[in-house]
Amino acid sequence: MLGWILHKHSDFLIKPETYEIQKLIEEGKQAGIEIIVLQPEQIEIIVNRDDRKSIFVNDVSTPLPDFIIPRMGAGTTYFALALIRHLEKLGVYSFNSANSIDIVKDKLYQFQILAESGMPIPKTMLAKFPLDLHVVGKHIGFPVVVKTLTGSQGSGVFLCETLQSLDELMHMVENSNPNVNLIFQEFVKTSHGRDLRVVTVGGRVVGAMVRTAADGNFKANYSRGGTVEKFEITPEIEWLVLEIARKLDLDIAGIDLLFDGDGFKICEVNSSPGFEGLEQACKKNIAREILQFVKLRLDMKAKGK
Ligand SMILES: Nc1ncnc2c1ncn2[C@@H]1O[C@H](COP(=O)(O)OP(=O)(O)O)[C@@H](O)[C@H]1O
Ligand SMILES: [Mg+2]
Repeated sequence: MLGWILHKHSDFLIKPETYEIQKLIEEGKQAGIEIIVLQPEQIEIIVNRDDRKSIFVNDVSTPLPDFIIPRMGAGTTYFALALIRHLEKLGVYSFNSANSIDIVKDKLYQFQILAESGMPIPKTMLAKFPLDLHVVGKHIGFPVVVKTLTGSQGSGVFLCETLQSLDELMHMVENSNPNVNLIFQEFVKTSHGRDLRVVTVGGRVVGAMVRTAADGNFKANYSRGGTVEKFEITPEIEWLVLEIARKLDLDIAGIDLLFDGDGFKICEVNSSPGFEGLEQACKKNIAREILQFVKLRLDMKAKGK
C-alpha cells in the first residue's frame, strides 16, 4: 500500500511537522505501508478523460497512491486543494477530504457550520474595515479576542483588554495589511491560558489533554511551549467532539475546547493536528491509530462500502 503525505515544505525536517511526519513514515513501515512526502507544487495535474491512473510528479508520470494525508492545515493553498480534489476524483482517498479541509481552514466558516447545528461556540463576528470599535464593544464587549481567519499555532490571535488597545491593534493592521480578514470573539475568561485538545480519528476519540500556557499568556498552544497533561474525557465531551467531527466530515480532527464555567465552548477545529504533545501526555501511538484507520477505511472502500 502506498500513501502520500502532502506537506508545505520539501524539507519536512523543518519544524513544526518533523515529528508527525517521521512518526507516520515509521509506523507505516511497521504496517507495510510505504509513505512518501510530497509538496503539492511538485505535482502537475492534467484534467482529461484518458490516463486516469497516473499523475505527473516532477514531470514524470507516476502511478496514483492508494491514499493521501494532507498536512497543510490552515496553510492549504488553492493549488493544494485543487490537487486534493483531483486525486479524489481519480479515486484516491484523502484523509481528510478536500471539502472538509477547505471548510476547516477558515475559522469563521467552521463556526458557521457548527452554529447551524446549535454547537456551543463563543460569540464571534466578522467586521468590516475600517472597524467601528463601538460595534465590537456593543456586540462582543471587552476583553475581546481578535483572530486572523487562517492563523495557526497562536500566531494570529490577540487579546485586547480595552477599546484603546483594540484601536492600537487596528491601526497597526491597517498600516501593515489592510486586506486581512479578522474575526472578533468573546473572551472565555475561565479558560485563560488553558484549553482542552481532543483528537478524533475515524469517529473515535484517541486522546485528550489539557494544555496550559507556560508564561501566563492567554494562549495555550503546545507549540508556544506550554505544558500538557492527559485528560479523562466525560461522555459530554465525547459526544460533543464526535458530533463536531461528524458535522465537519473530518476523518482526523484536532478539536480545541475552551473551559466555560462547568461546560465547554469550541475554540477551533484543525484538520491536520499535531500529535507530539498528545502522544507524550496520553502515552498513545496516534500515528498508529491514524494508519490503522486508513487501512480499515480502504478495506471497506475495496469492498464497496
Ligand atoms: N475566545 C477565546 N477565549 C479564551 N481563550 C481563547 C479564545 N480563543 C483562543 N483562545 C486561546 O488562544 C489559543 C489560540 O487560539 P486558536 O483560535 O486556537 O488559534 P490557533 O489556530 O493559532 O491555534 C487557544 O488555544 C486558546 O488557549
Ligand atoms: Mg489552536
